[in-house]
Amino acid sequence: MSKASTISGSLRLRFLIAVLVWVALGVGGIWFTSNRVFERHIEDMYHEELEVHVRELARLTELDEEGRPFLTRPLSDPRYEVPLSGFYWQVTVPRQPALLSQSMTRGTLDEQIAHSPDVAHTVEGGPTGPAITYGLLEYGPNGEPIHIVIATDERELLEDIAAFTNELMVWLAALAALLLATGIAVISFGLQPLRRLGRAITRLRSGEAEELQGRYPSEIAPLVTDLNEYVRQNTAIVRRARVQAGNLAHSLRTPLAILTDEAEQLAQDKNCAGASKVLLEQAEAMQQQIDYQLARARSAAGASVPGSRAMLPELAVPILNAMRRLHPDKDFTLEQEEGPLVLGVDPVNLSELISILLDNAGKWARENVRMAVRSHSDGAVTILVEDDGPGMSTDQIASACDVGTRFDTEKSGSGLGLAMARDICEDLGADLTLGMGKAGLRVELRFDGAIPPR
Ligand SMILES: Nc1ncnc2c1ncn2[C@@H]1O[C@H](COP(=O)(O)OP(=O)(O)OP(=O)(O)O)[C@@H](O)[C@H]1O
Ligand SMILES: [Mg+2]
Repeated sequence: MSKASTISGSLRLRFLIAVLVWVALGVGGIWFTSNRVFERHIEDMYHEELEVHVRELARLTELDEEGRPFLTRPLSDPRYEVPLSGFYWQVTVPRQPALLSQSMTRGTLDEQIAHSPDVAHTVEGGPTGPAITYGLLEYGPNGEPIHIVIATDERELLEDIAAFTNELMVWLAALAALLLATGIAVISFGLQPLRRLGRAITRLRSGEAEELQGRYPSEIAPLVTDLNEYVRQNTAIVRRARVQAGNLAHSLRTPLAILTDEAEQLAQDKNCAGASKVLLEQAEAMQQQIDYQLARARSAAGASVPGSRAMLPELAVPILNAMRRLHPDKDFTLEQEEGPLVLGVDPVNLSELISILLDNAGKWARENVRMAVRSHSDGAVTILVEDDGPGMSTDQIASACDVGTRFDTEKSGSGLGLAMARDICEDLGADLTLGMGKAGLRVELRFDGAIPPR
């Protein structure tokens, strides 16, 4: 199956893809905006803090008599005292030794950032990697420039952002899983009526129900009503068509009888004997067809009607009794090891089918006719009719089901039985197999499966 047809073939898959796209877009959007907002917020916080610190440092810086800078008290943030903590400050006055924070055990900060009385900032190389650097220029009592610089490793900021990102990722993964799970639950819940509809159609097809049963949501209910109406109409049409076929066959009977009678009269005249023979042969062929159609119309009147049920062995018992009377010198036996079975087929048709097969077996058996009903592990149910007569050759079996075929004209019959059996099997959805058994002919009927008893 191609990819496209898989997608268009499954509603569940379509919904699942839609939910996946929806969740991916939603979670992706939250991820992007949260990161942006957090980054901006934390950057603002860092910058604000550094600006406060650089101003505090400027306020605390003074020069002694020799012009050397010193702090009137340490900065309030203790991180400037921990060696290489990532938080540094530096105060420089030209021609004086630089005053450095205790944390700055190595390196220097670029004093050029402190070039005006306004606070300026940039990212520079610091003692422990790139640092966000703030600078401010002040003047001493004698006009000497004092460069005040403060810096925080950029790594600190990036680590804070990374910590947030990691935590956000865990939360968003949980959110995505939750959304997907609820999405799948919603899909299952939404598709439930379709599953129920599928089961109702299966019951209708198997004959357990005569129409689609159950209550459905307003989107599906009209479809169910239409389908039920369609099933009803179809059943009525089939019934009507069969009655009409029966009527037609019936109405041809009388004219045909008159024709046959005329042909027989013609046979008296020696000159017309040839023509009469042809007429009689053709009339017989027509009669055969009419009998066949009439029998079909009669037996098929109940075929394909949803809701039909046939019980075994109950259905077979009266037929076997009738056959014992019809063929008194033959022994008929029935085997059914399992309990009663119910088939979703029309009982009248099934009776007719079994009668045809048992009658043939009774006609050609030497002594015994065996009927066996069995249900198989794959669910199928088979009805077997086997006799111990002469049976048929492979060629005969191939044409035995044609209308009017008879291989043994010593026995009475019209050659319609197996033709009808084949048609009924088609109506009932059963398989008919003819073959040779141990002694004589072995006919197997196979049905898809039994249905649960009501
Ligand atoms: N059990 C059987 N054993 C041997 N031959 C059979 C058996 N069943 C059918 N046949 C052969 O197949 C032919 C066709 O059978 P079919 O039932 O269609 O016609 P029929 O029995 O001759 O007539 P009808 O059933 O219409 O009264 C039979 O004439 C017979 O030659
Ligand atoms: Mg027959």
